[in-house]
Amino acid sequence: MKYLFKNHFIKLIQVKVLILPLILFTACRTEKPPVVGLMADSAMVVCAHPLASDVGLRILKQGGNAVDAAIATQFALAVVYPVAGNLGGGGFMLLRQANGQTDALDYREKAPAAATTHMYINETGEVSENASRFGHLAAGVPGTVAGLAEAHRKYGSLPWAYLVQPAIDLAENGFTLTKKEAEGLNEVQADLQKYNTEPPHNMLKENWQEGDTIYYKDLAKTLTRIKENGAAGFYQGETAALITEEMKRGKGIITAEDLKNYTATWRTPITTTYRGHVIISMPPPSSGGIALFQLLHATEHYTIKQSGWNTSETAHLMVEAERRAYADRAFYLGDPDFVAVPVQELISKKYMADRMKNFTADKATPSLQVKQGTIKESEQTTHLSIVDAQGNAVAVTTTLNGGYGSAVVVSGAGFLLNNEMDDFSAKPGTPNMYGAVGGEANKIEPNKRMLSSMTPTIVEKDGKLKMVVGTPGGTTIITSVYQTILNVIDHDMPMQQAVSAKRFHAQWAPDVIFTEQKSFSEKDSLELVQKGHIFRLRGPIGRVDAILVLPNGKLEGGADPRGDDAARGY
Ligand code: GLY
Repeated sequence: MKYLFKNHFIKLIQVKVLILPLILFTACRTEKPPVVGLMADSAMVVCAHPLASDVGLRILKQGGNAVDAAIATQFALAVVYPVAGNLGGGGFMLLRQANGQTDALDYREKAPAAATTHMYINETGEVSENASRFGHLAAGVPGTVAGLAEAHRKYGSLPWAYLVQPAIDLAENGFTLTKKEAEGLNEVQADLQKYNTEPPHNMLKENWQEGDTIYYKDLAKTLTRIKENGAAGFYQGETAALITEEMKRGKGIITAEDLKNYTATWRTPITTTYRGHVIISMPPPSSGGIALFQLLHATEHYTIKQSGWNTSETAHLMVEAERRAYADRAFYLGDPDFVAVPVQELISKKYMADRMKNFTADKATPSLQVKQGTIKESEQTTHLSIVDAQGNAVAVTTTLNGGYGSAVVVSGAGFLLNNEMDDFSAKPGTPNMYGAVGGEANKIEPNKRMLSSMTPTIVEKDGKLKMVVGTPGGTTIITSVYQTILNVIDHDMPMQQAVSAKRFHAQWAPDVIFTEQKSFSEKDSLELVQKGHIFRLRGPIGRVDAILVLPNGKLEGGADPRGDDAARGY
């Protein structure tokens, strides 16, 4: 613990030296993001890729419900958005039916049965660099296909085959790359070369460019097996054989039994209230819902509408709440099927009121004085928000973990495997290579689900659907969803403005405020520094995709301009 802080404090001194350039970056907030998003009368889908949003819209127009559209959109993302859309990963689906009933589906990956607590620790007792992040050993047992099949069994209305077909068409017929997708593929070339036992020829190219056509023929075959046989088309038969052969070649540990035994699990969503709204979110194994509720509970006592958006007063309060919520996160949270998580205690309003008792409006609390640590997760995940014509709403966040996951493409099956094992704490109680600390509750155990930050969230007002929201971003997911909710409820922003607005992020360690460029005015950033906060400038935070139901019943989309994200509706 001391070691962790020593390193952070050295970094903090460096960061203080960098504060002047940061202030220059903050000096003029001139960018004007689109203020109003796409409006629709009946139904809407917002996700990370326009082609996948098109697929979702088609399903909605053809009478599919929100779950049908979520299934088809997610299969499409597995083709057109391989950086995070997936067959080889996992996710969470949060659902609110038009009658107000809610449900949550957990299709998070699991540790293989042969996994062990110390599997990433080498002979010298250190965590082996990269072993949990790249290659075959980094992959958990995928959950996505089981999750989508289970969602369809319980809530689907259109035939399964009909929902898978658009993804097959995209994979078989090819599609043109966006600039961002071409750049992403270029960045992953070296990893694809390094970590694959057989080269994924269709993804390898010296210089992908915007407008290039890419084909995923093997993936089309895998999707066809899924179309014809449901989850068994992935977890058994030819696809399962291709995965286990891949594991053998790459010295991975996922077995045919692991695949056959994987099941998705229905969980009871957690709910709380915030300024007259009902907030519904994901329970463990996500930390997202619990931490989001803690942040909202801390904020509710203050009139941040008056203190203003991203002012030093408001941001100081938010950062202090974040410090405390993230300090709890690693210590208490893990897979509820393995550890007792004190959910009700953590999300009681009294608990956070007690946690905030030592909050002072004029001074940052050094994280050294706040108990417990946090776990870093990679930031490549993806979210989709959907509302159908009946008023059913679905929020799905799904992930391979890192961008392009483990970089391992299952040869002959054409899809990437996740590197979700890195979301466990490889060595409980000590900092990992990013200086982040994990807890005993999230240690590796066979068949256990790794802790997540994914926070698919639905907001109700007066018994009616108000908002569907979520984002990728590892540990920043929670604070991005938090800021988006505050932007709408407290700062009265339309959905698109709330999504486009600049973001910042703080957690317990490192003891800094990560900020996008121009998140704060010069005056507010100086005041935050005077209170004892340290800034660290970084790139875009999150890619929030959200839908707001307006008082007149129309839907407003919020598609994050940080990516290629697109809203479609009718
Ligand atoms: N892998 C990112 C998350 O689950 O939070």
